[in-house]
Amino acid sequence: MKRALITGITGQDGAYLSRLLLDKGYEVHGIVRRVALEDPEHRLWRIRSILKKVILHSGSLESYASLFDIVEKIKPDECYHLAAQSFVSYSFEDEFSTINTNINGTHFILSALKNKAPKCKFYFAASSEQFGKVRKTPQTEETPFHPRSPYGISKVAGYELTRNYREAYNIFACSGILFNHESPMRGYEFVTRKITNGAARIKAGLAKELQLGNLDAKRDWGFAGDYTEAMFLMLQQPEPDDYVIATGETHTVREFVELAFGHAGLDWKKYVKQDEALFRPAEVNILCGDYSKAQKKLHWKPKVNFKDLVRMMVEEDLKLVSPHS
Ligand code: NAP
Ligand code: GDD
Repeated sequence: MKRALITGITGQDGAYLSRLLLDKGYEVHGIVRRVALEDPEHRLWRIRSILKKVILHSGSLESYASLFDIVEKIKPDECYHLAAQSFVSYSFEDEFSTINTNINGTHFILSALKNKAPKCKFYFAASSEQFGKVRKTPQTEETPFHPRSPYGISKVAGYELTRNYREAYNIFACSGILFNHESPMRGYEFVTRKITNGAARIKAGLAKELQLGNLDAKRDWGFAGDYTEAMFLMLQQPEPDDYVIATGETHTVREFVELAFGHAGLDWKKYVKQDEALFRPAEVNILCGDYSKAQKKLHWKPKVNFKDLVRMMVEEDLKLVSPHS
C-alpha cells in the first residue's frame, strides 16, 4: 500500500486530495496544526466524513523539528505540500508571517525529505499569483514571474526551492502552477465563496447587502476536484516537472457576481456595494492559463466549466442557509 503525506489536509485542496488518494487505496497521513486536533467539529469540517480513514499528525510549518519527526516516522512514498497562508489580502497585512511561514515551511519539508525519505515524490502547491503583473496572456510554464504580493513572492521562492532540490539533490520534486480553483469547500474569505455565500444569505433574508472590492479583476477559475487530480498525475510521471493547471478561460469578478446572483434569482445591482477598503495595494489584473503541457503530458483537462462551477457553489450555499439543512 502506498503511503501519502499531505500538509494542509484540512484545507479545500487537502479535503479533495485525501478523498482521491483514499479511493486509490493509499494510506493517507495528514499534518494538522495542534489546535485543529482539539476542535474537530469546526477546524476539521472539510475532512469530518473521512476522519476515521486518515491518520493525522500534529505539526506546524513553523517547526522544522515537527516536520522532520513526521517524515522520519512515516517515510512517505508521496508528499503533497499544500499547507500555506493562502489568502493574498492577508499577506499584505502581515507580510512577515506569510513570507516566513510559506518559504520556511516549504524549505523545512524539502530538507526533511532529503534527509529521511529521499525517494519520496514531492508536490509543491505553486500558484498563478506568481505571474502577478503578467508579461503575456495566456500564461504558460515559460512566462516570467512578476509577483505582486508577499504571498506571490513566497510562492516564487517555494517554486525555486522545489526546482533546486530537484536539480541539486535529485529529488522527484514537481510544482503545479495552479490557477484559482474553487468549490463548495472553498474558504469564506475568497471572493467566489464570499459571493455565493452572500447571495444565498441575501436570498434567505439573513443579509441585506454584500461588500466587495475590485470587480474588474479577471481570474481563470476552475473546480478544485479537477485540479487535485492533476496534482496526483504529476507524481505518477516518469520524470519530475512543473505544470500549469488552468481552464484557459478568464472572467471578471463582476461576471461571477452576476451569474451567482442570477442563479439565486436576485438582481446583483440591488445588493452589491463596492468598498475601496477591500481593494489591494497592488492588484493582479488578469490571469488566464494555458494548460497545453498538462494536456499533452498528463492527459489532463478540466471537466467542470465556469457556469457549472458557479451553479454548484450557489446551490450548495442555498442548501446550507436553508432552515432545513
Ligand atoms: P486553504 O483552504 O487555505 O488551506 C490551507 C491549509 O494550510 C490549511 O489546511 C491550513 O491549516 C494549512 N496551514 C496554514 N498555515 C499552516 C501552518 N503554519 N502549519 C500547518 N498548516 C498550516 O488553501 P487551498 O485552497 O486548499 O490551497 C492549497 C494550497 O494551494 C495552498 O498552498 C495555496 O496557497 C495553494 N494554491 C491554491 C490555489 C487555489 O485557488 N485554491 C491556487 C494556487 C495555489 P488550518 O486548517 O489549521 O488553517
Ligand atoms: N477575497 C476577496 N474579497 N477578493 C475580492 C473581493 C473581496 O471582497 N472583491 C474583489 N476581489 C478580487 C480580488 O481583488 C482579486 O482580484 C480577486 O477578487 C480574487 O481574489 P481571491 O478570491 O481572494 O483570490 P486570489 O486570486 O487573490 O488568490 C487565490 O488564487 C491564487 C491563485 O491565483 C488564492 O486561492 C491563492 O491562494 C491562490 O494562489
